[in-house]
Amino acid sequence: TPVLKVGLLGAGTVGSQVARVLLTQSDELAQRTGVRLALTGIAVRDVTARRDVELPPELLTTDADAVIDRADVVVELTGGIEPTRTRVLRALKAGKSVITGNKALLAESGRELQDAAAGSGAQLSYEAAVAGAIPIVRPMRDSLAGDSVNRFLGIMNGTTNFILDQMDSTGAAFDDALAEAQELGYAEADPTADVEGHDAAAKTAVLASLAFHSSYTIADVHCEGITGVTADDVAAAREAGYVIKLLSVGERCGDGVNLRVNPVMIPRDHVLGGVRGAYNAVFVEAENAGSLMFYGQGAGGDPTASAVLGDLVSAARAIALGATGIPLEPYAALPAVSMDDV
Ligand code: HSE
Repeated sequence: TPVLKVGLLGAGTVGSQVARVLLTQSDELAQRTGVRLALTGIAVRDVTARRDVELPPELLTTDADAVIDRADVVVELTGGIEPTRTRVLRALKAGKSVITGNKALLAESGRELQDAAAGSGAQLSYEAAVAGAIPIVRPMRDSLAGDSVNRFLGIMNGTTNFILDQMDSTGAAFDDALAEAQELGYAEADPTADVEGHDAAAKTAVLASLAFHSSYTIADVHCEGITGVTADDVAAAREAGYVIKLLSVGERCGDGVNLRVNPVMIPRDHVLGGVRGAYNAVFVEAENAGSLMFYGQGAGGDPTASAVLGDLVSAARAIALGATGIPLEPYAALPAVSMDDV
């Protein structure tokens, strides 16, 4: 079996789970992809840090460039804009496909990364960047590519949904609920990105770029977080039959689109009102498909690792086929078929 060398950048909550699966399920993955996925290096900030998953010390290094140079495919789970952007560009320009969960980077430099990938024939995949385990990036990019999306409404940040749900169902204080979300591995390294809505805004820009076939950045998204939501607001909403959710909205409006993230009162019996804990949901309205609902675990190590590994298996299959695209016969060369033959 040919070997595909996988370089991993980052071994935090998600990265360490990805490494665990690559190290323990190597045979199964080889059967599924036709290539052996060999983890050839893991770049971390501190090789001595304590981790949830024990990783082979010989794979750990602080030299991210060395990990990239040695790999055929790079999995980026470090987060942040720089130096990650430079590293991802380095990999893509060298023709190495990149799988990333980095919504902040995509929402700032998505176009530049896509152009670099297109220039070298590499693939850039990011199912994990929006709504954790929920398949939404590929459905939006591929399954709905022949339709016209009019609107999406999403709960796309697990931390804030967990906090609001705890405040609603147990009367928990904001700070206690946030501490628990951090403990459970839902929150970003800096939870300000969660509670101020920046994480949801980045995901909104990424999803909107796919939904509306354009390139949006986080600056295009009007953003308001949940730090101003009080226990009294939550109780008053409850009393009136509503629940407060941090809602991401992308909708066509005239010739343009309107993108926003803000706390919204949703009727308790609405399908999005029933999304509890760190679960996420995205409700999509398309011209021909009608209404579609995507629901599942939006944060946490294992669920997010599932999305990363799905992208990795796809990339491995494409590489195993010896192509990043299917070789098509030129249209004119196809034999003519008359309706009598059908
Ligand atoms: N901090 C993010 C969340 C993780 O809470 O949804 C998944 O992107």
